[in-house]
Amino acid sequence: MSYLLGVDLGTSGTKTVLFDEKGSVVASALREYPLMQPKNGWAEQDPDLWWQASAETIREVIEKSGVRGSEIASLGISGQMHGLVLLDKEGKVLRPSILWCDGRTQEECDEITRRIGRERLIQISANPALTGFTAGKILWVQKHEPEIWARACHILLPKDYVRYRLTGEFYSEMSDASGTNLLDVPKRTWSAEILEALKIAPELVPPLTESADVAGHVSAEAARVTGLAEGMPVAAGAADNMAGAVGTGVAVQGKAFTTIGTSGVVFAHSDSVQIDPQGRVHTFCSAVPGAWTVMSCTLAAGLSLKWYRDTFCDAEITTANLMGTDPYVLMNEEAALSPIGANRLLFVPYLMGERSPILDSDARGAFVGLSAMHTRRDLLRAVMEGVIYSQRQNLDILRGMNFVPETMLACGGGAKSPFWRQMMADVFGMPVKTVQNAEGPATGAAILAGTAVGLYRDIPTACEQIIHEKDPSMPIAENSAGYEPYYRIYTSVYPALAGVYGELARQ
Ligand code: XUL
Repeated sequence: MSYLLGVDLGTSGTKTVLFDEKGSVVASALREYPLMQPKNGWAEQDPDLWWQASAETIREVIEKSGVRGSEIASLGISGQMHGLVLLDKEGKVLRPSILWCDGRTQEECDEITRRIGRERLIQISANPALTGFTAGKILWVQKHEPEIWARACHILLPKDYVRYRLTGEFYSEMSDASGTNLLDVPKRTWSAEILEALKIAPELVPPLTESADVAGHVSAEAARVTGLAEGMPVAAGAADNMAGAVGTGVAVQGKAFTTIGTSGVVFAHSDSVQIDPQGRVHTFCSAVPGAWTVMSCTLAAGLSLKWYRDTFCDAEITTANLMGTDPYVLMNEEAALSPIGANRLLFVPYLMGERSPILDSDARGAFVGLSAMHTRRDLLRAVMEGVIYSQRQNLDILRGMNFVPETMLACGGGAKSPFWRQMMADVFGMPVKTVQNAEGPATGAAILAGTAVGLYRDIPTACEQIIHEKDPSMPIAENSAGYEPYYRIYTSVYPALAGVYGELARQ
């Protein structure tokens, strides 16, 4: 029996899972770390915390499981997308990483559009210049921290930095590189034209592979720290959403999934490059060679509920600790006591600005319709409904692009909640399923690792062997009809508030 490791480098923490080659979980470990928000709308993290969390969790699963490092065939990494990691010539981190949910770069995005032209940029990078994406962050450092930019010798994405610490080698791969605005997405290669226009020397970006290729081997130093065998092959891995797709079996045309992690995503697999001309949803390379994806990104999906928990749910946190359960379980029970529509209260989840579908980094969250009769449970339900309405708005855009999946697979922390899954089924008007092995991106990363070393023939075959769907939550017609008017009103909240958000941002 061979074993595989999947490391999922998320925004709230890193989870490492050890699987056997049949895809069964042998052991897992999690280390959390904070999100730094030095200014309203900014988001940063220290890349060395990512490495520390990865190394510690790898060591922990090896120790817990009793599996020897030499029995592990390969490791794959899944990672939060778009974050900018800059290294000097010795490979040392130059500044905290500027993350996917950081909205400071609107001016730089306008500058990128001016230099390249909107149409040409979309033709090459399949997406408009977006504040979450990496290129705007690079221009921000060029302009605001020229002394750091002058010392930058390597530009990496978050998981590519962790892989570098494991192997000592610089690589990126197509799925994550798609989120930089620097990749020629249809041709799967760095765009010399964009790099030149943005004054980024081509030697700063790493060589590219596909997700299920070997991209280095565990170094002697990393072997000492993690307990892995020196020389073990490490797969390139994938961006978290593309790894999540593989981990839920979304690796062929017609399949789609949604995730509620820190961000929320609705994702469809595509055998061809499909682009939303308005840029409301993103087009990226899939982890499957020769395939692409169309996906939305709600910046604060799970983050909205986490914000609500940390700000208002001390009682649930204390009770959950005493009961040895998760505060979210109690919060779900509480929210279910409020009716559909939360007693006529809406929440828009723009706590970090918003990408899909409104593309406005100045937008912010709002409760609309707040009354003196509302209680904490109404606010809680409104937060959960607002996140699902945001997902529905994005699903409707995908439907408009002719992605009409029959069922929606669900993964991420949010999919663990039967209450939220039922709400999804009702609001989407379609069956929502989870898979038996619920590790999502970590499973996907392990499948990529197994494919890279020849344990599996290819990614879709591995998915067929390993991923098994569970019974769906079916939409309940009466509930769907109840949500529909609230969803319609939800879609009119942003247009009504857009001017207010702009004014607030200028204060
Ligand atoms: C996708 C995106 C987020 C992060 C979260 O474009 O920015 O989903 O990948 O980890």
